[in-house]
Amino acid sequence: MTEVLTLDIAGWRPSLAPGVQESAVRALEGGGVVVLPRVQFEMAERERRFLSQQWSDGRAKNVSLDGTRLKGAQGGDADLAELAAMVARFAADAATLVATLFPRYAPYVTRARTSFRPQPAVGRQVSWRKDDSRLHVDAFPSRPNRGERILRVFTNLNPTEPRVWRVGESFETMARTLLPRIKAPLPGAAAILSALHVTRGRRSEYDHYMLNLHDRAKEDMEYQRTCEQAVVPMPPGATWLCFSDQVMHAAVSGQYMLEQTIHLPVAALYDRERAPLAILERLTGRPLVPARAGS
Ligand SMILES: [Fe+2]
Repeated sequence: MTEVLTLDIAGWRPSLAPGVQESAVRALEGGGVVVLPRVQFEMAERERRFLSQQWSDGRAKNVSLDGTRLKGAQGGDADLAELAAMVARFAADAATLVATLFPRYAPYVTRARTSFRPQPAVGRQVSWRKDDSRLHVDAFPSRPNRGERILRVFTNLNPTEPRVWRVGESFETMARTLLPRIKAPLPGAAAILSALHVTRGRRSEYDHYMLNLHDRAKEDMEYQRTCEQAVVPMPPGATWLCFSDQVMHAAVSGQYMLEQTIHLPVAALYDRERAPLAILERLTGRPLVPARAGS
């Protein structure tokens, strides 16, 4: 079962009592969610107007910050510049938090994308594959990561309502259930997808299995109903972190969230043996990324 560790630390550069860092590392890399109710994003009074769906262009799921420009947003130039500045401030806060709690990750915190999610977490009509109200691990079809980790920092900006998640069973338990349903990749398929620019770079076997675990979990409503799971409400203002490529998670409800993605090489982990790459290589009995990419 997914561990949920709540820590009573405050601020983006929290002072940490002895042992806190170790327990945060153990929970995070063990596939848990670390919840920080007192690590809160400060919004200026005039920024509260951004708590509205009107800033979304209606096409993209999220507003995202790419360099200094917003994507998926609509509004006047001055408003959008202010919104971009707010999202950039969160990116800096999230980087500070990760570097403070997990010093080994500090060199990588800038490799990131930041999103503002003004729309309700659920309710949009989407295909089963894009339906994030179903339990899944994150895997990106167009961005092969060859074992690289997806660390995410979230903050619930909603002043009154929780952001509610479901979390599922451990990565290894899920993988043992779903791996037998996954066929080995077709020889040559990765090269073709890369040549056609469907993927940015070559898909490794690891990517193949991760994408399939995402899909096999989401398509199976029986699995969705019956696997071990828990509902976890993230309070208004709370911040939480997890490796979203490892934690089985699903959106239940909520609106207004900031999210920071950080890509970490396996080598940055405190214990790489607990990562999905190592778990999948143990379960399949063979290396799943070309030798250099996984190191
Ligand atoms: Fe997700």
